[in-house]
Amino acid sequence: LPPTIRQILARPSPTEEPATISGWIKSIRKQKNVSFAVITDGSSAEGLQAVLTKGKDDELLRKLTNGAAVRFTGRLVKSPGAGQSIELLVDQSREGKIQLLGECPPETYPIQKKDLTTEYLRDHVHLRARTSRIAAMLRLRDGLKREMDNWFEAQGFYFCNTPIITGNDAEGAGETFRLEKIQASHPAIASPQEVTPPSEFFSRPAFLTVSHQLHLEALATAISRVYTLSPCFRAERSLTSRHLAEFWMLEAEWVLPDGDGVQGICDLTEGLLKDTVGAVIGNQDMDLLWKDREGSMRQALLDAVQSHQPWARMTYTDAIMELEKAHFSAPFEYEPKWGRSLKSEHERWLAEKLICGPVFVTDYPAALKPFYMRANDDERTVACLDLLVPYTAEIVGGSVREERLDVLQQKMGDHGENDAWYLDLRKYGGAPHAGFGMGFERLISWITGIENIRECIPMPRWTGRMLL
Ligand code: 4AD
Ligand code: MG
Repeated sequence: LPPTIRQILARPSPTEEPATISGWIKSIRKQKNVSFAVITDGSSAEGLQAVLTKGKDDELLRKLTNGAAVRFTGRLVKSPGAGQSIELLVDQSREGKIQLLGECPPETYPIQKKDLTTEYLRDHVHLRARTSRIAAMLRLRDGLKREMDNWFEAQGFYFCNTPIITGNDAEGAGETFRLEKIQASHPAIASPQEVTPPSEFFSRPAFLTVSHQLHLEALATAISRVYTLSPCFRAERSLTSRHLAEFWMLEAEWVLPDGDGVQGICDLTEGLLKDTVGAVIGNQDMDLLWKDREGSMRQALLDAVQSHQPWARMTYTDAIMELEKAHFSAPFEYEPKWGRSLKSEHERWLAEKLICGPVFVTDYPAALKPFYMRANDDERTVACLDLLVPYTAEIVGGSVREERLDVLQQKMGDHGENDAWYLDLRKYGGAPHAGFGMGFERLISWITGIENIRECIPMPRWTGRMLL
């Protein structure tokens, strides 16, 4: 394939060689004898300027409008203008050639140059990747994932694919989507009436997974260090800026080194974030996404990611004490109290006001957390952590897993044969292990300042909304 615009712009100097570049017109300024078009192929935050000399076909020039798909043949030359070093000279009196691949009628094209609201773009989700901000977010997701793959490889982890269809509700929050079979004769896209009652295709109820943790545990107790970046599904009715019905979670699970516990999970999570976010933080897409946003927020992020000091860590019990004190002078909507879950207002206060940066909150009450977390010696709390960051609040949840068969059995209660496999992991060579899950969209939101995670995923789904 020919080079993309990103690859061309990364070249040290123009070659003057003939080049053919395809893309979409981002803007065009037409003068009497020459036109200036900026084209983008989405590969880069910047477009490439093409200088088009006048040809014989006026009709063709008329059709070169924003959004039109084009292929230009010309020469890459040094740009006389400021800003960009290379431009494409399309001299139609010589070898230059303009091809219109697809027109884009300006009267009806939904992606106009004027500022489009977030809500409007959600309504046109199939076209919104053509805006520079959504395109930058897509490239950033890609770049961050690559950094994470490299990081995990260097730490001796293996990437694993885990099932999406599952028989368990790992988090026990009752937010799972249940699968149903569509009548065989019906075409792929069903209308609601044509879905049969639950048909138990698997001879037992089947769900879309809410987390890949339990399956990763099975793999970690065999090949020691595993991770995945996979879709998770939660039928949460929450209409917040932080909840999606389908989101991607980065989950890691590993056998613990001797004496390591929650603090070791914090170390690993922090190391991962500092290294991988640190690697993308200064790139062009980040610049584009942070443009027009409060500089102090970006600086705070930079400080956190580049700091040689470890991020703050505090127990849930200490966090509650601080929250209770704060509630006294400036009440929260929900009263903080030991034994109650932290609401996002509490999480944000801890990260934004008390710590002014990321903070790990550890050792929550057992009653608030799922069955698989390892009980602490106090018998009231479990060996777990949440990572809270300014504005986005919780982005990571993790824990040491209960490896003691008897304790786990007691917690799981009357487990049917469907859960026996999970106990087997302890029964046969059970080893202390731990893991965490990081919401990928929440991470993107934190590091870009994008307010709502609906803009941190290509095609968001939330209760009441599934376009496409
Ligand atoms: O805290 P959660 O529920 O933890 C787990 O699922 C563990 N089994 C993970 C593990 O240890 N392997 O979810 C983990 C993270 C949250 O901190 C949050 O970032 C994200 O997943 N998350 C969501 N992101 C978007 N939309 C939702 N509805 C989310 N629910 C959780
Ligand atoms: Mg959580």
